[in-house]
Amino acid sequence: MSTWAVLVAAGRGERLGEDRPKAFVRLGELPLLAEPLRRLDESEWVDAVVLVAPPEWEEPAILLAEELGASKVTACVTGGETRSDSVRAGVAEVPEDAAVILVHDAARPLLPDEVIGRLLAALGEGYDGAVPALPLPDTVKRVERDLVVETLDRSELVAVQTPQAFLAPVLRACVESTQNATDCASLVEKSGGRVRIVQGDERLLKVTTRADLERVAAWL
Ligand code: CTP
Ligand code: MG
Repeated sequence: MSTWAVLVAAGRGERLGEDRPKAFVRLGELPLLAEPLRRLDESEWVDAVVLVAPPEWEEPAILLAEELGASKVTACVTGGETRSDSVRAGVAEVPEDAAVILVHDAARPLLPDEVIGRLLAALGEGYDGAVPALPLPDTVKRVERDLVVETLDRSELVAVQTPQAFLAPVLRACVESTQNATDCASLVEKSGGRVRIVQGDERLLKVTTRADLERVAAWL
C-alpha cells in the first residue's frame, strides 16, 4: 500500500503580488515551499512526493528539495495554467501501482502530520476520498449581485482544506477527464465517488495575501 503525495506549487501568487511565485516567497529563512515539502518528506504516512513547480522554476524547486535532503521527491514536473492542470501533471507521474494519492497545496505550508493520519484512516473505512474540513465561523448567504437571496443553513456547510486523499485509481480517472475544479474532491463527488470529511486544522491556513503570510510566519 503506497501513498504518493502530489504537492502543487505552480501558482503565480497574483494576490500576494510579489516578484516571484508564491512557493518561492520567503517564509522564515527559506522559500515557502520548503515547509510543506519537508513535512511531507518527513511524514511516515508518505512514501513518495511529486513536486509540481511553476514554469521556469523547476530547477530551483529541485535544488531546494536537495538542500532539504527531501529524499522522497521522485519527480518534479511543470504545472499548468490552472490548479487542475497542475494536479493532472502531478498525478501523471504517480505509478500505476500506487494505492493512495494525497494532493496538497504548497500554499498551506503548516501541514500537521495527524491530518494525514485522519485522511488515510477514512480511506481505510472504504471511502473513495477524504478531505479536512472546518465549521464556518460566519453566517453564509447566497446573493445575486448585492441582493441577498437566501441564508444558508450553516450546520450543513463546511470549509474544506488540503491535503485531500483519494484512492489512486479513483483520482486518476477523475483528473483524466478535462473538467476544471477548485478542488479534486469535487471531481470525485461529481463522478459519484464517496468523499468523507475529517477534522481539519486552523494551521492549514492558505496563504493568499501578505497578511496570511505574516500569520503563518508567526506560527512557524
Ligand atoms: N496552483 C498550481 N497551479 C496553478 C494554480 C495554482 O499548482 N496553475 C497551486 C498553487 O501553487 C497553490 C494551490 O494551487 O499551492 C492553491 O492555489 P492558490 O492559493 O490560488 O495559489 P496561486 O494561484 O499561486 O495564487 P493566486 O490565485 O493569488 O495567483
Ligand atoms: Mg490561484
